[in-house]
Amino acid sequence: MPEDSDRIHLKSEADLAGMRRACRLAAETLDLAGRMVKEGVSTLEINDACAAFMKEHHGKSATLGYRGYPMHLCTSINEVVCHGIPKAKDRLKNGDLVNVDITVILDGWYGDCSRTFAVGALSEPARLLMERAERAMWVGIEAVRPGEFMGTIGERIEAYLKPFGYGIVRALGGHGIGRHFHEGPFVPHHRQSSRGPRMKPGMTFTIEPMVNEGHWDVYVDEDDGWTVWTKDGSLSAQFEHTLLVTPTGVEVLTRLD
Ligand code: MF3
Ligand code: CO
Ligand code: CO
Repeated sequence: MPEDSDRIHLKSEADLAGMRRACRLAAETLDLAGRMVKEGVSTLEINDACAAFMKEHHGKSATLGYRGYPMHLCTSINEVVCHGIPKAKDRLKNGDLVNVDITVILDGWYGDCSRTFAVGALSEPARLLMERAERAMWVGIEAVRPGEFMGTIGERIEAYLKPFGYGIVRALGGHGIGRHFHEGPFVPHHRQSSRGPRMKPGMTFTIEPMVNEGHWDVYVDEDDGWTVWTKDGSLSAQFEHTLLVTPTGVEVLTRLD
């Protein structure tokens, strides 16, 4: 069952053993992708190597066939916000920002993470955008603890990013995750009027702010039906972790230690 986008499923200790393994495999696959990022490499080559790695470790891609998505992961270059489709003709160039987003299924459990990587030397604005997008994710993660409102995540991220004048994407957000790719709760990365539900131990969800150098508005590519672009053509960067609310705070399930 790939979707259960409204319900919040609290995980037991036994469930968490499965979640930790799936999240670890997602993180290891993303690490492999990061080591491949170099000028001249195609996004399809990254896709294929990661697909082989997931298989070797008895996992599989959650994105392949998800609502018809055609590939094992997403590769989003420069003005692409997310859901970019790997292609043989898309070869990385010096100065590119490329986000690789990987979701694996292992023994029925889902793990989801992404990072933006630099290809060669970045311009100063691109370097700052990437650094601040990563920091924005951590600011959100630092808000996670039992009893806190879900809305605090977006409030803190927005407060951190505001001085830079960046746009925080609103059309997509983080999500609960477990035996389904997308469960409740929805995780906005900007301030909203409702503070949302309170966090509880056993909740697992992603924080994955998409940060545009310009305006927050985006559109979906008409030709492929997937690629999400910034409306104003500005650069975009994103980082994502899958998290667990613990009795005392937060555990970052997709972190490699
Ligand atoms: N991994 C993405 C997320 O963070 C979702 C990708 S869905 C796809 O939620 F179909 F585009 F691959
Ligand atoms: Co993802
Ligand atoms: Co996600």
